[in-house]
This record gives sequence, structure tokens and C-alpha cells, in this order.
Amino acid sequence: MNTWRKLRRTILSVPANNMKMIEKSAGLSADIIMLDLEDSVPLSQKDEARATAVKAVNSGIFSGKTVSVRVNPTGTAQIYKDIIALAQECRGKIESVIIPKTDRAADIHFAEGLLRSVMAESASDELIYIEPSIESAEGLENISEIASASALNISLVFGIADFTASTGGRLTSLSGHGENDESVYPGHRFHYVMSRIVSTARANGLYPIDAPFGNFRDTEGLKKSCLTATALGFEGKWVIHPDQIETVNSVFAPSQEEIERAGAIIQAYENAGSNKAGSAQIEGRMIDGATLRLAKLVHEKAELMKNV
Ligand code: GLV
Ligand code: MG
Repeated sequence: MNTWRKLRRTILSVPANNMKMIEKSAGLSADIIMLDLEDSVPLSQKDEARATAVKAVNSGIFSGKTVSVRVNPTGTAQIYKDIIALAQECRGKIESVIIPKTDRAADIHFAEGLLRSVMAESASDELIYIEPSIESAEGLENISEIASASALNISLVFGIADFTASTGGRLTSLSGHGENDESVYPGHRFHYVMSRIVSTARANGLYPIDAPFGNFRDTEGLKKSCLTATALGFEGKWVIHPDQIETVNSVFAPSQEEIERAGAIIQAYENAGSNKAGSAQIEGRMIDGATLRLAKLVHEKAELMKNV
């Protein structure tokens, strides 16, 4: 099991230029706090936000919490300053940097090169991992190369609003973040993108992380969005408001009923095995090795839940 295997149901995005919100986030029940230096911070406050993020991470408020930081994209005047500051000053205290608008493997090579050269300066063996965010047509076209570009990669994140902008998709809601998608397309208009992200991430041993849902007052819409993501195999979802945490945490965790059903499947399969049978029946359904693997995933998640 890798060292970064943990619950990743909720990744709460917090603007890094707002110390009050950062302090509040430390007491919330999101699995991961993501300090954002990119799109929630105006250009005029980029330096200040970077300094605030570094200060917050080193202040001790996040003790016991997993923290990541979304830096600015490749090609901006900020990214190298973001990565160098984080690698020099936050090592061992943040888990990863998210690279937004990753269009090609070279974006990840650049981030990795910077990270590794700063990390080489110190004797610490704590690594800072990388999370490429897929949010453009080009990024999706290059997704396999991006996923395998670095041993530091731990996830692939879906950036839904920028992706829509990059493909010329229609803006069907105020936020552009996952609302009304079912009403404008049979099925779900991002089915292909989401499935592609899930299968490429899993094929490379990475966690697929879903985009946030923009309307934080619409709990039913959020729940539906989580159910779609979990049905496809996403591991977790970004959240943009504290009120979304509980719903996302609960949908991305197996319910008691699912845990019990998985236990019954595992038991039935083990009983069949002791009778030298490769399959078994449970409540009129045939179960086999594949059912067992699905059930074991539920149990693995349930085990992780014990540490919450
Ligand atoms: C997130 O970065 C998005 O573009 O939706
Ligand atoms: Mg974006």
C-alpha cells in the first residue's frame, strides 16, 4: 500500500489570500485542505497569497490535516516562485502541489524539475507530490502522457469550468461548475471526459478527483453530482464551500448497507472457495471473482474510514 493511501473524499478549496477562511478551514471535516494560489486570487495579490499560504502551513493550525496547494499554471510569472517557496518552506507540511491547466507532460516535467532541485538542497526525505489538473481539450488529448510523466504524480483532477471554456461548451448555469449538465445533454455531457480521467488515473495508479459543484445551496444537485462521480469511480471531489463537506463525505464513503453487503459477498465467496467452487450464489445472484474484488474495495474504504 502506498504512503499516500488515505481517504480523499473532500478536497476543500480555500483562497490563499484570506487568512480568516484558511484558519476556519483547519477546523472543518474535509479530508484535505487545498490552499488556492490560482483562480480565486486576483493577480494583484499573488505574492501576498503565496506568503499567506506559507505562513498558514507553518503556523501549526493544520496539525493532523492533509494540506495541498494549487499553484499558478505553467507559463505564468508566478509558478516558479510558488513551487520554490513551497518546496523550500513547506516541505513535510504539505502533501502536494496541484498544477492547474496541465496541457502536456512537459508541464509536469517542469514542476517536477523545480520541486526536485529544491528538495535536493535538503537532507529531508519528505516528498511533495504532484496533482495534474486536466482542464483543457489539449490536456485531455495528452492525458496518458501527463499521467505517466512523473513518479511524483498522485492524482488527476478534473477542472470542469476551464474544460468547458476550452472546448467552447455552452455556459448553462451561473457558476459553470456542474449544474444543469443532465438537462442539456442526454445522459451527462461530461461522461466521456470523466470516464477518461477515471480510467487513465486508475491505469496509472493515481486517484481520479472530480470537479466541484458550483451551487453550494443546492444539496440535492450536489448529491446527484457525487453519485455520478462515485458511479464512475472517482475517489473524491473538490468542494468550494464548507456546507458541501458533509454531503460529499457521506456519498464518497460506503454506507453501512454497502459494507454489510460487501461482507456477505466476501463470506459467500470464501464458503464457495472452501467447496472448491469459483463462483457462488447470494440472494439469487451469481457472484464470482470480479464481485469479490468490488466487495473488497468497499471494505478497504471502510477500513480507511476507521481513522477519521
Ligand atoms: C477548476 O479549476 C475549473 O476550472 O473548474
Ligand atoms: Mg480551472
